[in-house]
Amino acid sequence: MEYPKSKELFERASKIMSGGVHSNGRNRKPHPIYMAKAQDAYVYDVDGNRYIDLIMGNGTMILGHNNPEFNERMAEYVAKNQGVVTGFDTPLSIDVAEHFLKITGNERVRFTNTGTEAVTHIIHIARYATGRNTIAVMEGAYDGWADMVYVNCFAPLDQVGDEACPKSVPGGGGLDPVTVSSTLVLPFNNIEATEKLIRAHKDDLAAIILEPIMIDIGFVEAKPEYIRFLRDICDELGIVLVFDELLTGFRIGLGGCQDYYGVKADLCMYGKAYANGYITAAVAGKAKYLDYTIPGRGVGFIGTFNGHQISLCAAAATLDMLDSGEVTKTIMSNADALREEFNAMAQRKGVPVLLRGKGGHFQVYFVEKEPTNYRQAAVTDAGRYGRYVASLQEQGVWCSQAPLSHHVLSVKHGRDVLDEMLSAMDKAVDKAFS
Ligand SMILES: Cc1ncc(COP(=O)(O)O)c(C=O)c1O
Repeated sequence: MEYPKSKELFERASKIMSGGVHSNGRNRKPHPIYMAKAQDAYVYDVDGNRYIDLIMGNGTMILGHNNPEFNERMAEYVAKNQGVVTGFDTPLSIDVAEHFLKITGNERVRFTNTGTEAVTHIIHIARYATGRNTIAVMEGAYDGWADMVYVNCFAPLDQVGDEACPKSVPGGGGLDPVTVSSTLVLPFNNIEATEKLIRAHKDDLAAIILEPIMIDIGFVEAKPEYIRFLRDICDELGIVLVFDELLTGFRIGLGGCQDYYGVKADLCMYGKAYANGYITAAVAGKAKYLDYTIPGRGVGFIGTFNGHQISLCAAAATLDMLDSGEVTKTIMSNADALREEFNAMAQRKGVPVLLRGKGGHFQVYFVEKEPTNYRQAAVTDAGRYGRYVASLQEQGVWCSQAPLSHHVLSVKHGRDVLDEMLSAMDKAVDKAFS
């Protein structure tokens, strides 16, 4: 493929926008590719190249790009809202909250804008409710870029220390070193080592935050007994258990990881899929905790764009379309077919590569056996992955260049798209091992 227009745009953009893009995740070697339009499962760049999009707005576009039914429903909600944009709540904000709670099975919800804001609110609530300060995250997890949680995310393996007691490595420059070093990093899926660390910090541990399925490093599932153990020890020691459902919500079954594991968290953070690409995130969970944010009860919950009406029109339209469960069911079954067919192909070839995924999230790892934590996922062969992704891009399949990223199916990635993907993946795997 040729990218002369993208190259030219990058030269222009990099003079005025540091890095040439507005989010570092969009960077690409040798330069970013700029997009011109998107439809269903496809995105088209400024040079006219067409790709099957497997990033789908970082997991937001569950209904596909420019979905006509979604557009129509959203336009109807916008028209009904008669010009209110932000700064007020409306009957719509209450309708969307009710619908959101019905689907997710939580007692309370408040809308904010991004996952990073949601986790920040959650930390304030947990600290206030417990009178403690320390926050625990899982090794390798990404729960947003706030100082308290942007720790050990994609940390280099030579910096992470002992597996049973991982070091707190900052996720980037400029974080407060005191905050970063106070964050407790837990070894995912290792009950014995996790229990030791939690008990050692029990007097100051306010919250444990985790993606029960670590999708930000591809697709690494918690064992059900690990989630059950976390629930029990949090109950015993009065620690707030938080599920980061930004990616799992509405996709790992409509009820996300709370349903998948049959375990209720105290608080959850959501975003992405429930507004099909529009900007909203939610803090949800038990009334006991959310109600600390009622004015006068101790914890602030403030934001110019919180419950933004245009985003909530998008959420209303999306929730209407997700409500029956059919969209999630279709994506789940397509993701299962993709996993089975890819892995059968890899087995036929006799090469060490495997696809892990469910609910429309997946990643291809160049490893011998299924990773169960960050350290096992991080040893995926980066050279092979690089050749695999380069070949896919040449064949018109848009993937992440980062070996520990994840990929996404929307409801528009139907059988025809899967066939096109699988045929390209077959050739790309050959390239990876050439
Ligand atoms: C699992 C998870 N948690 C939190 C976040 C942060 O969300 P946001 O980018 O909306 O701040 C992300 C974003 O990629 C995410 O994937």
